[in-house]
Amino acid sequence: MKTLRILMIIVAAGFVMFARPGAASECMECHSSPVFRVQHKSLFDYYTEFRNSIHGLAGLDCADCHGGDTTTRDMKKAHVGVKDRVRYDRIPETCGACHENQQRAFVTSDHYRILKDEGTAPNCVTCHGAMEMDFIFAGRVKNTCAFCHNMETGNAPEIPDRADYILSKINIIKGYRSYVETNAKDRELVGELAQAYQELSAKWHRFDLTSVERDTKELLGRYRTAKAQAVRDKRRQ
Ligand code: HEC
Ligand code: HEC
Ligand code: HEC
Ligand code: HEC
Ligand code: HEC
Repeated sequence: MKTLRILMIIVAAGFVMFARPGAASECMECHSSPVFRVQHKSLFDYYTEFRNSIHGLAGLDCADCHGGDTTTRDMKKAHVGVKDRVRYDRIPETCGACHENQQRAFVTSDHYRILKDEGTAPNCVTCHGAMEMDFIFAGRVKNTCAFCHNMETGNAPEIPDRADYILSKINIIKGYRSYVETNAKDRELVGELAQAYQELSAKWHRFDLTSVERDTKELLGRYRTAKAQAVRDKRRQ
């Protein structure tokens, strides 16, 4: 009797683990199957791209963005609502459920207003991709912005160069940051700077470039000073 009870507890615990969001869901099982791969080649690619993305590696599940029922093998039941939450104009809310800082800044931008009113402005996925989720880095940002901001559209064609310039400064900050985080003695300062970096990154999503540029310069100055101090700290060790 006792062994049976223990067995039942183990089975129940296993069940709970598998039912937990993030564990292998029926969406993944079905969309990754060899049959699916053959019958729906282009949709299968969504799965592989997702698996190798930062989200796949972080253990997200399809349903974290799509909704739907992850526990059933009945395709109809599983698919209820899976397209609604990733509709063009609803994407910011879907992504914003986890990326609150970016979302809060983004809703105050012209991009967001026009996205909602006319549907002709970028949403999160335009710049970051949907499955093959990525960050934007200097060099690539130019093309992303120039898709809409160029001479032909006449829509603020100077923006790609400005965005590229600011991001290249942010890249320098990133370099300083990793040195400071490893070597600086003043851990309180390290925390303050990391916080300021997060705020700057979120502020990007207001697309008020003048203010972002000012904050970027200021933070670069603070990190430069902190790095010089960290170099001295290291020598003294
Ligand atoms: C039993 C297999 C199966 C399960 C389970 C399943 N899917 Fe699908 N899914 C498919 C097939 C097959 C297609 C191809 C299009 C079709 O026939 O509807 C598809 C298509 C889709 C599409 C594209 C919809 C379209 O009409 O273009 C999305 C998005 C999607 N699935 C998401 C999910 C999510 C999210 C889950 C889990 C909550 C899930 N699927 C569970 C088999 C499955
Ligand atoms: C981080 C959020 C996110 C996750 C996680 C995610 N998706 Fe998506 N997916 C999106 C967005 C946004 C779109 C719509 C934009 C697009 O089509 O490029 C989309 C589109 C799709 C489409 C095309 C739908 C169509 O109408 O043709 C398929 C198929 C799909 N996803 C399947 C999946 C599967 C399967 C998983 C899990 C293995 C998954 N997605 C996980 C955000 C996500
Ligand atoms: C269920 C929560 C969740 C949802 C929904 C979600 N993400 Fe994420 N996202 C994460 C996690 C977890 C990471 C891993 C890195 C981290 O911890 O910040 C991440 C990382 C990222 C990164 C890289 C950031 C970095 O620090 O490298 C970008 C860009 C991103 N997500 C954009 C999106 C977009 C765009 C959407 C909507 C299509 C989305 N996310 C939806 C949880 C989520
Ligand atoms: C017009 C293009 C654009 C749009 C739209 C956009 N982003 Fe970004 N996003 C960027 C750029 C450029 C960066 C890089 C700035 C940086 O490194 O701080 C970035 C950085 C990020 C990061 C990484 C922040 C970090 O830790 O460094 C996340 C997460 C993110 N965006 C989420 C979102 C979400 C969620 C949305 C929609 C609500 C969104 N983005 C809309 C361009 C965009
Ligand atoms: C899908 C198209 C699209 C993409 C991609 C895009 N934008 Fe925009 N952007 C717009 C539209 C539309 C407006 C509104 C123009 C207006 O005021 O009528 C706008 C406005 C702006 C403004 C405000 C301009 C002003 O001074 O009034 C800034 C700043 C901006 N975008 C920055 C960016 C940056 C930076 C990127 C790349 C990371 C980018 N945009 C990518 C469509 C886009």
